[in-house]
Amino acid sequence: MGLDDKFTFALNDVLHTHPSNLEFAAIAVEAEYEIPAIHWKKEKMAILVLGGAGYIGSHAARALRCSGYEVVLYDNLSTGFRRLAQGFELVEGDIADEARLRPVLARVDAVMHFAAHAYVGESVENPRKYFRNNVLGALSLLNSALDAGIRRFVFSSTCAVYGIPEQIPITEQTPREPVNPYGASKFLSKTHSKLTAALTDYAP
Ligand SMILES: NC(=O)c1ccc[n+]([C@@H]2O[C@H](COP(=O)([O-])OP(=O)(O)OC[C@H]3O[C@@H](n4cnc5c(N)ncnc54)[C@H](O)[C@@H]3O)[C@@H](O)[C@H]2O)c1
Repeated sequence: MGLDDKFTFALNDVLHTHPSNLEFAAIAVEAEYEIPAIHWKKEKMAILVLGGAGYIGSHAARALRCSGYEVVLYDNLSTGFRRLAQGFELVEGDIADEARLRPVLARVDAVMHFAAHAYVGESVENPRKYFRNNVLGALSLLNSALDAGIRRFVFSSTCAVYGIPEQIPITEQTPREPVNPYGASKFLSKTHSKLTAALTDYAP
C-alpha cells in the first residue's frame, strides 16, 4: 500500500464515519431528529495538520485541501520549512505547548499528527530527544485534543515499529519489535493513542 493509499484509507476511515455536515443536517431535518451541535458546528470540516510544514504533513495538507477540507497547519519549524506552508494558515508552536494549542484546537474538527522527530540514526545518538518529543510531546498533544473535545485523531506511525520483521510484506499482524529509539518512541505513542481510544469514544 503506497502513502497515498494509506492516507486515503485513513481519511475514509476516520473522517467519513459520518456523512458530511450538510448531508447529516439534511437527513436530520427530514427525519425530524435533533441535530447534535458537533455536526452543526461548520459546513466544512476543519483539520489541524500538526507537522504540516514537514515532508509528509505538507503533502497531507495539500491532499486534504484538494478533497475540500479547511486546513490549518501547526509546526515549530524544527525540521520543517516555512515555504512548505505557503498558501496555508500556519500557527507556529510546539505540540507540548498546551496554551498555544488550545485556541487552535477549539476551531477544528479533527487532528492529524505528523509532528515528530523521524531520523533513525539521530535517535540512536540522542534517544532522549526522541522520547521527549515523540512520546511526551504526543502524550501532551493527545491530552490537549481530548480536553478540546476533538474526537478524530490520525496518528502517523512508521514501519520502524516492526523492527526487523521475519516476513515481508509487513502486515498489521506483524509483531511490533522496534530495534531503535525512533521506532520505540513511535511504538509507545501509538500504543498510548490506541489505549486512549479503547477507553474513550475516541477514533484513533
Ligand atoms: N518520512 C518517512 O518516510 C516516514 C515514514 C513513515 C512515517 N513517518 C512519520 O511521519 C511523520 C512526519 O515525518 P516526516 O518525514 O514528514 O518528518 P519531517 O521532519 O519532515 O516533518 C516533521 C514536522 O514536524 C515538525 N515538528 C517536529 N516536532 C515538533 C513539535 N514538537 N511541535 C511542532 N512541530 C514539530 C517539524 O518542524 C517538521 O515540520 C513522523 O511522525 C514520522 O514518524 C515518516
